Amino acid sequence: MFVRLTTARDIAKIPPLVEAAFGRHDEGLLVTELRDHGDMVLEFVATDREQLIGHVMLSRMVSPPLTLVLAPVSVHPDWQGKGIGSTLVRAATEAAEEAGWTAIFVLGDPNFYGRFGFEVEQAEAFDTPYPHESTGACVFNDEDFSTLPLEIIYPRAFS
Ligand SMILES: CC(C)(COP(=O)(O)OP(=O)(O)OC[C@H]1O[C@@H](n2cnc3c(N)ncnc32)[C@H](O)[C@@H]1OP(=O)(O)O)[C@@H](O)C(=O)NCCC(=O)NCCS
Repeated sequence: MFVRLTTARDIAKIPPLVEAAFGRHDEGLLVTELRDHGDMVLEFVATDREQLIGHVMLSRMVSPPLTLVLAPVSVHPDWQGKGIGSTLVRAATEAAEEAGWTAIFVLGDPNFYGRFGFEVEQAEAFDTPYPHESTGACVFNDEDFSTLPLEIIYPRAFS
């Protein structure tokens, strides 16, 4: 299994993979719209030989500035529970930190995302359209994070 940045040749294969992971169409559409709207910043795929088996996307938040949202994370059902999702999330967070982003927000189970530095407490002060209990933030720069406007506005594709 390899994890690498997405190339142009992967793009058409990603929505079917995401839909297989989630068992529905919505997240496949989310990936396509985030890219089409120009909000996608970074994405990684996991491969086994030539087959795509996992994917993760990071996109720019409308607010707060200099922050990203990690969504969606997808592993093909045949490959789940083998560490691929964890490897993808780690690759994405490390790349975001290296590139100088202040923080990443995520929507999902704190038991899963807590392993990678996402904390519900860090996002608690923010106004958000989604439940606080499933909103986490992974903060790379505490000083900058503490001065951010306290409103989370997701990229347009989320609505
Ligand atoms: C969630 C997902 C990305 C995790 O990837 P994965 O490769 O299966 O996970 P890993 O093997 O790296 O990690 C497995 C661990 O995460 C936990 N886990 C897996 N999916 C989880 C979920 N949806 N919620 C909470 N914990 C989860 C497992 O219980 C396991 O815990 P353990 O290490 O204590 O046994 C993958 O299962 C998937 O694509 N699921 C369907 C789509 C989805 O729900 N995406 C996330 C939306 S927030």
